[in-house]
Amino acid sequence: MRRKLAAGNWKMNGLRSALSEVEILAAAHPAPKAEVVLCPPATLVRSMARVCADNCITIGAQDCHQNQSGAHTGDISAEMLADAGAEYVIVGHSERRETYGETDEMVRRKATAAWAAGLRAIVCIGESGEERHAANTLDIIGGQLAASVPDAATGENLVIAYEPIWAIGTGLTPTLGDIGEVHDFIRARLERRFGNGVGRSVRLLYGGSMNPGNATEIIRVPNVDGGLVGGASLKAADFSKIIAALNG
Ligand code: 13P
Repeated sequence: MRRKLAAGNWKMNGLRSALSEVEILAAAHPAPKAEVVLCPPATLVRSMARVCADNCITIGAQDCHQNQSGAHTGDISAEMLADAGAEYVIVGHSERRETYGETDEMVRRKATAAWAAGLRAIVCIGESGEERHAANTLDIIGGQLAASVPDAATGENLVIAYEPIWAIGTGLTPTLGDIGEVHDFIRARLERRFGNGVGRSVRLLYGGSMNPGNATEIIRVPNVDGGLVGGASLKAADFSKIIAALNG
């Protein structure tokens, strides 16, 4: 059985003062059935890991460099993130693919770097609005999945987040049927490539305008194993409800 996962992506939000939200969240969920991961900006990884040393929240980062070390001004390696207390790292978020031109190949190398440092990778994939309108969603998803996920994937080291770009931060979400179609497709592709054992153990998250109002119905869609939540993960009151939905 795949353990449900509630992952919060804080993006470029959060100062040290926001750590109080994490304490409130942890106190509300002392022993959640679902796994809870928070991915703060890099500046907060260490301090949030300290706050969460004795509670059930696990810390992730939002990106890592594909190299282990070297002349990469402003970048952070997976090993540094692990050293700071992260256990997960998001790679290939559409905001990074768009803003920094990250390609599937770079994302694949980042995931490999994450694994070398002992981190679990949350690999993001998703179609644009234009691609959905042109009925290209499954082609795009299939291509990104094939090229962004390294061969050494396991159910332990990999999580896939399906995040339709047009649904991120817009309040729009695909229909439950559309979410189900994409998640079933991803599952089938993973089984075909990695075999049933690994293919069935990788968790598939939905991301894009997930909130306390829609989490319960989205979570019920087959092959949705949790959520990657942006805006609604910033406030303990909101994210708490999403965690509760995932706890079932
Ligand atoms: P929102 O939940 O704010 O739409 O963001 C989703 C996302 O991009 C999570 O990585």
